[in-house]
Amino acid sequence: MERKLFTPITFKDVTLKNRIVMSPMCILSTESEDGQVNPFHITHYESRAVGQVGLIMVEATAVQPEGRIMTKDLGIWSDEHIEGLQRLNERIHAHGSKSSIQLAHAGRKANTPQPKMAPSSIREGENETVPTEMSDTDIKETIKAFQMGAKRAKKAGFDIIELHAAHGYLINQFLSPLSNKRDDEYGGSRENRYRLLREIIEGTKKEFTGPIFVRISADEYHQEGNQMEDFVYFSKEMKKQGISLIDVSTGGIVLADIQVYPGYQVKHAETIKKAVEIPTGAVGLITSGVQAEEILQNERADLIFLGRVLLRKPYWAKEAADELNFKLDPPKQYQRGWY
Ligand code: FNR
Repeated sequence: MERKLFTPITFKDVTLKNRIVMSPMCILSTESEDGQVNPFHITHYESRAVGQVGLIMVEATAVQPEGRIMTKDLGIWSDEHIEGLQRLNERIHAHGSKSSIQLAHAGRKANTPQPKMAPSSIREGENETVPTEMSDTDIKETIKAFQMGAKRAKKAGFDIIELHAAHGYLINQFLSPLSNKRDDEYGGSRENRYRLLREIIEGTKKEFTGPIFVRISADEYHQEGNQMEDFVYFSKEMKKQGISLIDVSTGGIVLADIQVYPGYQVKHAETIKKAVEIPTGAVGLITSGVQAEEILQNERADLIFLGRVLLRKPYWAKEAADELNFKLDPPKQYQRGWY
């Protein structure tokens, strides 16, 4: 019987062998805060590729050192990062998985020795330091840094790029009226708040012709924040710009008490998919094969992003296949009836 979870899907010229995606997860593992790939990163991502995950999304990777969420994050701000990322890609591709990297800048949520930058001098919470409002030059440099990140990602062999516009990080800070109080062309109206993301997408496209995904937080859990009609507007703009998939998460722009339950963010992926007619990714407490299959068969999303369950179970795909009575082709090294 056909199981959608194990059906290939194509974005531009990239075909994923199934719908299972390793959700981007920072693992704070660089050795000397230099942003470099080390042996643990290789083992961590390669083991999920052996586990038959269709798309491995490498964690939030900083396009500028001052944009790191934590100093042990991976980096792509220098050509010196390319070689390590190339080695990582070879190991992911060796098992038939495709690879992606999430390009990120933390803005006011950065924890680095450098001063924090943000659209406006507004801190996230009372325990935070106040960020510096970005000048026009800062904005141009950041857009260029994303563009250079895309160029290096291409050289390193990534099949797909994801832009991190969620969880209250820099791009999200520009999108949200809660954190963006600018009175120039990057603030105010919805169109202006989208401008930074628009220009980052344009810069990325100059260097990378493959599929580009964007992760957004489609619920700000605040009455004065963006609402679904705003996310539909942003997603329509992204579709016009040629974005291949919206990866739909929530939260992070303000501190909020978020009610979580199985599949708690899927409804937003479904709303955007239907309203915008664009492929979406669902994420958040999706843990079983049956649950993933329901989301895909009911056309609520096109890809299933798995976070914590893949930390616990690198071989989740096999478990889900067994649950769905699907015969999963084993990795070629296990092909003698052991699987
Ligand atoms: C995350 N998450 C995350 N999200 C993101 O867009 N970029 C990132 O780098 C990270 N880093 C990260 C680290 C760790 C340790 C965890 C647990 C989570 C969020 C993650 O991708 C996912 O959206 C959430 O974990 C919800 O999915 P699950 O875990 O319920 O499947």
